Amino acid sequence: MILVTGGAGYIGSHTCVELLNAGKEIVVLDNFANSSRKSLERVLQISRKPFAVVEGDIRDQAVLEKTLKDFGCTAVIHFAGLKSVLESVNSPLDYYDNNVIGSHRLLRAMQTSGVKRMIFSSSATVYGDPKFLPYTEDHPLNPVNPYGRTKLIVEEMLRDLSASDPTWSIGILRYFNPIGAHESGLIGEDPKGVPNNLLPFVAQVAVGRRERLNIWGNDYDTADGTGVRDYIHVVDLAQGHVAALKSLEQTGCFALNLGTGRGNSVLEVVKAFEQASGKPIPYDMRPRRSGDIASCYAATDRATRYLGGWRATRDIETMCRDHWRWQSQNPNGYAG
Ligand code: NAD
Ligand code: UD1
Repeated sequence: MILVTGGAGYIGSHTCVELLNAGKEIVVLDNFANSSRKSLERVLQISRKPFAVVEGDIRDQAVLEKTLKDFGCTAVIHFAGLKSVLESVNSPLDYYDNNVIGSHRLLRAMQTSGVKRMIFSSSATVYGDPKFLPYTEDHPLNPVNPYGRTKLIVEEMLRDLSASDPTWSIGILRYFNPIGAHESGLIGEDPKGVPNNLLPFVAQVAVGRRERLNIWGNDYDTADGTGVRDYIHVVDLAQGHVAALKSLEQTGCFALNLGTGRGNSVLEVVKAFEQASGKPIPYDMRPRRSGDIASCYAATDRATRYLGGWRATRDIETMCRDHWRWQSQNPNGYAG
């Protein structure tokens, strides 16, 4: 039995589908701070495999201990946390509370319960300004915002824990830019308020919820001047977690990039989305967004080696097509 914290969220819900498809039993723990119960109903609709849901907070150690014990959990996939860079700059204490204290309580509950296998959602944001590209896992870690620092602190806590007790098995996965949706169009990303990230914003323009996209900067040192990122299909990412679970059969602590190794510019993404949706995406060129970098993409060979040959296979056209299917079938997300 696997405990999935934050399993109702964007990446969590897709991972639940892949875990259930792979025949795993799961219990989801989520406080629904940034998600809807509907996503879990849809996970059931896609997988047709029942699973348990606990409404609870990762900062509540008693609930965690009870859940681990009652369900006989042997591993945890830990997605729960807050993820907005902007919000973390304005409310850093909320981010340290949720992401750092929450992860600490979870680890404590696992230790008390004798559960010593964990996969942790980290982010490429832990690398900070690139000293070289592609980012390898050995690139210096220097996050430039509170959100990124919460991820780095948890990573360090996990490395210290593994060093102190070598019977733990810990996989730290550093995601690049997850986009897209399950091919059914039933689950996908459903951000609250005005999206900060590119794809949700572009999709909302295409579906008529927003008028125009702002492109933050066209004077970067990239082929067309707009920012380049390593977009990865969320289903590829989810399948990476199933592969990582297998790697937890060995003890120790590993950190892996989950990306495609390829970069696409903002203009390339806009073009691919226009083709996938058949809708025009009007845009305005704006000054650079503070904190942004020109380019960001992953070295992927270590992940492929550790994860038994796993690699991301879906291209940017498929990502946009699947993202559009979700957005067009659910113009207002899970709100209906
Ligand atoms: P999400 O917000 O959709 O999902 C997070 C889930 O955790 C939500 O369902 C939320 O309700 C739940 N949650 C938050 N705080 C909680 C708490 N204290 N107790 C219980 N549940 C709680 O985000 P996502 O995009 O699915 O991201 C999942 C993880 O991956 C996060 O840790 C995020 O930081 C990390 N990550 C995301 C991205 C990305 O671009 N989406 C990139 C890198 C890393
Ligand atoms: C952002 C976060 C990063 C986080 C990641 C995934 C910042 C500074 N970084 O990364 O820490 O891990 O999301 O959640 O917030 N863009 C536009 N117009 C828009 C939105 C984005 O032009 O309306 C551009 C950006 O300038 C960038 C690219 O699109 O070049 C991708 O942006 P985004 O989706 O926000 O991801 P990151 O900036 O990579």
